[in-house]
Amino acid sequence: MTTTDGMLLLDPQMWARSGPPHELLTELRHTAPVSRFEIDKVEPFWAITKHANITSISKQPDKFLSGPGITLAPRDADGLDVPGFSEMRVVINMDPPEHRKVRKVASPWFTPRSVKRIDHAVNLSAKQLVDALAANPERQADFATEIAVKHPLRILATALGLPEEQEETILNLSNRIFAPDDEELGGGNTPEDFAKLGAEFVQLFLPIIQNRRDNPTEDLASVLANGQVDGEPMGPMETLGYYLIVFNAGHDTTKNALAGGIRALVENPDQFEMLRRDPSLVPQAVEEILRWTSSVNYMKRTAAEDVVVNGQKIPKGDALVLFYLSGNRDEDVFDDPFRFDITRKPNPHVAFGYGEHFCMGAHFARRSLAAIVRELVTRVEGWELAADPEWIAASFVVGLKRLPVRYQIAS
Ligand code: HEM
Repeated sequence: MTTTDGMLLLDPQMWARSGPPHELLTELRHTAPVSRFEIDKVEPFWAITKHANITSISKQPDKFLSGPGITLAPRDADGLDVPGFSEMRVVINMDPPEHRKVRKVASPWFTPRSVKRIDHAVNLSAKQLVDALAANPERQADFATEIAVKHPLRILATALGLPEEQEETILNLSNRIFAPDDEELGGGNTPEDFAKLGAEFVQLFLPIIQNRRDNPTEDLASVLANGQVDGEPMGPMETLGYYLIVFNAGHDTTKNALAGGIRALVENPDQFEMLRRDPSLVPQAVEEILRWTSSVNYMKRTAAEDVVVNGQKIPKGDALVLFYLSGNRDEDVFDDPFRFDITRKPNPHVAFGYGEHFCMGAHFARRSLAAIVRELVTRVEGWELAADPEWIAASFVVGLKRLPVRYQIAS
């Protein structure tokens, strides 16, 4: 494999130009499922592209560590590490036994029964957003910015206790974290940019943490503000980090899955019609949207010892990149993987990862997606692309920046 191939997998600008590198990932799955790449700007890495290898690595958190970071460490022109958010000590980049203790702070709030608490906010948001489509006389909108960005933002802001007027601020911060290289959305990726970003997060969340410590309620903000590890309250930085990871892990991922899911329904009218006729298929459609979009393209692990993956020796300390996007198109697991099929069952996708770090917000995301997809398919009567969609210049959490759609809907 060449350097160009490696760039195609991870260069944000390549991604912006041509979207997911499915051809290359398919070739890798067939010919070299564990391949080493050395490219500019990031540390060398092994690309893991088969579903079976991704799940098996994810089940061995003692051998394949998250602690050293879950995104590839950026390097400057001299090959030195540039500090970034991936070094923050939050649940997603901790290893056992610490990881399990810290995960327990919030995991009870995220069980299927518990997340029912957000149903009101979720359904209200879905209804209001589709009402806005119905009120728009032009019958054309950018579904990426008008629906996909707003829906998870509103729900997460409610769960985390952010007042509505701060939604724009948090959106801006989130864009700067996940799309630092996107000219329109990002805010740069120098150490200074990240330091500034950190300070703005502190300003936003510290007052909420203080408020929920003084007046705890049932919401997620209170759970995090009053969280304890080993019987001791979490420190301010740990608490802040938890807010940050929940917001960031929850927003961009859901928004990108939603925009990509709507696009798939627009481009597959038979699937859209099937859903319109039978909205009880919505939960299955959501699983297919998650598989199809794989909005978390990859997560990194670091080998804690010399290991062998799919017959390939990997030395201690090397980075392994688990390409969920590729695992979700693995021909050995999914029949006709490039067909968008809302009736696919079973659908053992790895969009939420697998094993130790399996997405804590999976039920939350499923409920949020299901509510808006249900509202759309029961009210929108037909739709088509009004222009070509555009991709965000990002290769970690990936998705569409614009999705112009013309639609029919009753007023
Ligand atoms: C479509 C939406 C989503 C996708 C595709 C997604 C994907 C993922 C993936 C792949 C991981 C695994 C990380 C790893 O193995 O290193 C993860 C972890 C996590 N996700 Fe999500 N996520 C989504 C929505 C959410 C939401 C809505 C929340 C919270 C409100 C959330 C919170 C988390 C947290 C806290 C973790 C860390 C869990 C741990 O380290 O134990 N996610 N997510």
